Amino acid sequence: MAAFASLGLSEWLVQQCKQMGITRPTPVQENCVPAILEGRDCMGCAKTGSGKTAAFVLPVLQKLSEDPYGIFCLVLTPTRELAYQIAEQFRVLGKPLGLKDCIVVGGMDMVAQGLELSKKPHIVVATPGRLADHIRSCDTLNMKRIKFLILDEADRLLEQGCTDFTKDLEVILSVVPAKRQTLLFSATLTDTLQELRNIAMNEPFFWENKSEIRTVEELDQRYVLTPEKVKDAYLVHLIQKFQDEHEDWSIMIFTNTCKNCQILTMMLREFNFPTISLHSMMKQRQRFANLAKFKSNVFKILVATDVAARGLDIPTVQVVINHNTPGLPKIYIHRVGRTARAGRNGVSITLVTQYDIHLVKSIEEKIRKTKLKEYPVEEKEVLKILTQVNVMRRQCEIVRDPDLEEKRRNKLAKMKKGKKESKGRIQEIIQKKKGKMLKKKGKNTRETAAGLS
Ligand SMILES: Nc1ncnc2c1ncn2[C@@H]1O[C@H](COP(=O)(O)OP(=O)(O)OP(=O)(O)O)[C@@H](O)[C@H]1O
Ligand SMILES: [Mg+2]
Repeated sequence: MAAFASLGLSEWLVQQCKQMGITRPTPVQENCVPAILEGRDCMGCAKTGSGKTAAFVLPVLQKLSEDPYGIFCLVLTPTRELAYQIAEQFRVLGKPLGLKDCIVVGGMDMVAQGLELSKKPHIVVATPGRLADHIRSCDTLNMKRIKFLILDEADRLLEQGCTDFTKDLEVILSVVPAKRQTLLFSATLTDTLQELRNIAMNEPFFWENKSEIRTVEELDQRYVLTPEKVKDAYLVHLIQKFQDEHEDWSIMIFTNTCKNCQILTMMLREFNFPTISLHSMMKQRQRFANLAKFKSNVFKILVATDVAARGLDIPTVQVVINHNTPGLPKIYIHRVGRTARAGRNGVSITLVTQYDIHLVKSIEEKIRKTKLKEYPVEEKEVLKILTQVNVMRRQCEIVRDPDLEEKRRNKLAKMKKGKKESKGRIQEIIQKKKGKMLKKKGKNTRETAAGLS
């Protein structure tokens, strides 16, 4: 394996890596760093936790040190938390340069951001929506000299998901110079290759890890088959078991909606698990504060929506539990990639209901050459807590939405009323029909009698 110095990086950067505990480049770094230093566009597709961030941060810092000015580099990323994490890597590795960075994300003060942007930071790390807002509202924001445009989680930025970045990207691409280096990274690039090639126009250097499986070897991938109604009891049981068997532990739980995220957090707290949540309905400062508390191990469980599925690097996470089976294999790959990072071991457990079996099949097809294994669970133990868990969940649902019981009662009453009404209407119709038939019968009898006489 090569050393950092042999990739063409300066001694001061090699020393910075050493200070971070990084001595040998990972394959994505070994392959992409020299290409980027040569001035080529680059597309890097490597597994989760394999050091893609440093693969672009290191060569950018080297080039910046040779010709420092602002704004030198723009990094785009889909989530706010990820923007802070990337800026942090720039700050740590670029410390000797006296690096100035600026984070431009939604949910934070726009005026303060505008002021910082006007001071021409070397590096801007942004989410597309907020940066596009700045561009639209400020004619003086000068991005014309940008040397590097980086899209981390590039496939997410280009796909049309529930948050669609394409309009904002158009705005941003219209103000950055055509003559630039474009770097695109993700653990799942292949679905959006053509769109990516349109952005990285100069015959990009493309590197993909050659491994046959898409997920990390150190990751033990499991599933638990559960009826929908018993799912929460399985979740509580799994956490309990993990807590009993491990001293130092940390779990990320992914679920599909913000509402579910809130309810599960409340419910797990009722069971005395140190739980905190992260979802997009929370205020931004709360989101950062919660993530910090989880990272520092004050809270051992983070319940999150897919806003936390990509990029977050929290080395202490040993287990990822999918409370719902992800609908897209891609989302599965990123979610379970929050554990088993940088060579560590980790476990992922996906709760699979009777309705999700086809989803598991498509996940297995996508990750290739690996099948999820069943996670052994003692059903007797789960059944013991089933009623308690379901009652607790119901209570939490009512606390979250105090009108829930009344709404439910009203709905029931409405249904009953509707039933009664339709019953009445049916009776009416039957009566009418009967009446008509009798009339007809009477007429017929009269006619027959008349005919006979
Ligand atoms: N050469 C290296 N040797 C050891 N550890 C490294 C090396 N490079 C980076 N790391 C560490 O590996 C961890 C994961 O890195 P990073 O977050 O860049 O992964 P990633 O490939 O971007 O993953 P994801 O696809 O989830 O975003 C970080 O904690 C980082 O400090
Ligand atoms: Mg990353």
